[in-house]
Amino acid sequence: MTATMERREFLAGALALGACSPVVPASHAQESISSEGLAAHARRSGRYFGAAIKSRQLREDPDFTAAVARECDMVVEEYELKRGTTEPMPGKYDFSGADQIIAFAQQHGMRARGHALVWYAAQPKWLEPALKLANGGGREKLMTSYIDTAMSRYAGKIAEWDVVNEALEPNNGRADGMRQNSMWMQALGEDYIDIAFHRARNADPRATLFLTDFGLEHDSPRCERRRTAMLKLLDRLKARDVPIDAIGIQGHLKPFREGFNQAVFARFLDQLRGYGLTFSVTEFDVADRGGPPNPDKRDQQIAAVAKAFLDVALDNPAMRSILCWGLSDRYSWLSNFPDYKWPDGQLSRGLPLDGDMRRKPLWDAIASAFDAAPAIGRRRA
Ligand code: G3I
Repeated sequence: MTATMERREFLAGALALGACSPVVPASHAQESISSEGLAAHARRSGRYFGAAIKSRQLREDPDFTAAVARECDMVVEEYELKRGTTEPMPGKYDFSGADQIIAFAQQHGMRARGHALVWYAAQPKWLEPALKLANGGGREKLMTSYIDTAMSRYAGKIAEWDVVNEALEPNNGRADGMRQNSMWMQALGEDYIDIAFHRARNADPRATLFLTDFGLEHDSPRCERRRTAMLKLLDRLKARDVPIDAIGIQGHLKPFREGFNQAVFARFLDQLRGYGLTFSVTEFDVADRGGPPNPDKRDQQIAAVAKAFLDVALDNPAMRSILCWGLSDRYSWLSNFPDYKWPDGQLSRGLPLDGDMRRKPLWDAIASAFDAAPAIGRRRA
């Protein structure tokens, strides 16, 4: 534990959901909903709160759009800056969706993130065959051309980028825990990460460059292997002076499947901070399938584990922002993803607002975690 800030002792034992202290819900009767959103709570400790959105939601859903404007001071594209959407044909770009999201952020004075420049998934169908046909320099260009195009288009409007997303996959069997089922790893080896970050630094020197991954949160063998692989990767990248500024901890919690131990997660954040990196929770939500059938009881348990997680996250001075992967249960990938969707088709309850934009106990958990968080000084522009 660092001396810099009076750090709250964290429960060493794994958090059994039933044992969590229930979060006291504020009254959210419609008429009393205060304009003070989660971003206002975040700002008190010098942080940002945001959410992943889609341009169609901004065009077609005024209630949702108003909720984003009230609750957030940061946004990220849920899919509209992924190359599969923006470059359907080689060199033929469609940034129309991302442009609308960035325009919305500009209009509301919000910070914006870019997600994601180099990822193994959601790539255009033409890319992998092209990579296989290209020679060394050609393969590199196939990766760097998108970094140049996207970053130069949004320079000064997008403050931070997920440069490389989900580079880890210990289940692929490599000793280093790296993802082998990646067209970039197969085409360029691990150097693809070095090349991507150096290119990104050149493309927009003011942008904060993130390495982002999932499965870093829980007290489970799966997450322990992934944390170890992340730290080993950072050892190698730091030794090669790769210009990484920050780690994106996706934060997709699955408390009804894996335990959460505050001390384990706090130690990992301290280890990350030891590399001089900052970090953000970039895709926070709670998979609720398998939880109590009673939604109120489930909401309480979701809120309790979220508070335990966010208390650790926000206690670390290097934690700069919390973004949810969506804002309302009306729109969540959890409700469509086979592993997490409820067989009876009910909406998942893994986000701070319900399907009618009403604040849930999870909203209270996030607000009170921000309120309890130690201040980290002036926010970055
Ligand atoms: O908008 C098109 C629509 O025009 C088309 O008719 C339809 C059928 O192909 O596709 C629609 O696009 C879909 C898009 O979501 C919008 O709903 C894409 O096919 C679909 O692949 C995309 O899924 C996104 C997925 O990443 C892959 O990009 C999910 O919304 C998004 O929540 C999910 O997010 C990922 C993060 O990027 C990384 N971490 C995990 C997270 C959850 O899987």
